[in-house]
Amino acid sequence: MTPMKRIRTPMHRYGEADFDRDYLRWGFHDADTQLKEAESILRLAGNERRLRILDLACGMGRHAVYWAGQGHTVTAVDLSETFVAEGRRLMRQAGVAIEFIVSDIRSLPYREAFDVVTWIENSFFDEDMIRQVNQCLVIGGILVLDVRNPENAKARFRQSNWRTWREEAGVFYLERHETDERTGSHEDVWITIDSQHEVIEEKINTTARVPTLEERIHSMKTAGFSTVELRTMEGLLHTGGTEPYWLWLVGTK
Ligand SMILES: C[S@@+](CC[C@H](N)C(=O)[O-])C[C@H]1O[C@@H](n2cnc3c(N)ncnc32)[C@H](O)[C@@H]1O
Repeated sequence: MTPMKRIRTPMHRYGEADFDRDYLRWGFHDADTQLKEAESILRLAGNERRLRILDLACGMGRHAVYWAGQGHTVTAVDLSETFVAEGRRLMRQAGVAIEFIVSDIRSLPYREAFDVVTWIENSFFDEDMIRQVNQCLVIGGILVLDVRNPENAKARFRQSNWRTWREEAGVFYLERHETDERTGSHEDVWITIDSQHEVIEEKINTTARVPTLEERIHSMKTAGFSTVELRTMEGLLHTGGTEPYWLWLVGTK
């Protein structure tokens, strides 16, 4: 018997047109949730004056469109041309103006130019970037970014390590999702076995260790934020517990 051919490929990533076009259909929070997020951030920042808002990793820019509609000046940055093109379409549809920029947010050219910086559903946390974000803000300005509630993650830990398989029309689909508790790194593996063509295709997505909540707060304080608070999406101070899943870190410069 000839051995099966194995093809190992990394998961596709943001910025790759095929992946992004697909992601537009399933990847983002739904429109209602994003509207609530956008409203809540305005309440935190104070909606009574015209704000200069920088939306980092803006995706398709639903938050940005809402803020611009409320009369604020918005700059929205994302590395994906596909997402930004969709954002521009939504902007025109809403009849508002937003400065959309296709760029990597790890290098920010601004100095004391914004009252609010948002980084919603961030896919990585970069200490150097937090320093740059602090420089973007005026004194008294705020950074809002989200983080998974670590207590929620602990409670779900067992469920997040799982393996399964299913068969459809003679093709086997196997999945493995595992977090290494010691290092915090995470691996997702999708394997397809097509018995007819004798091919095993493995798609792998490995995430490096993510910083803890305490490390994030420490980085924000070191970067120059005078206060860092943990809040719910409704804007309430979070005092502990396993709910909700997402929390917001709000840093004030
Ligand atoms: C989960 S989506 C969230 C998008 C948006 N903030 C929202 O809440 O709908 C993550 C976004 O980060 C963007 N992104 C990831 N790495 C980036 C980078 N280095 N520079 C700019 N954008 C980045 C992706 O293109 C994607 O739009």
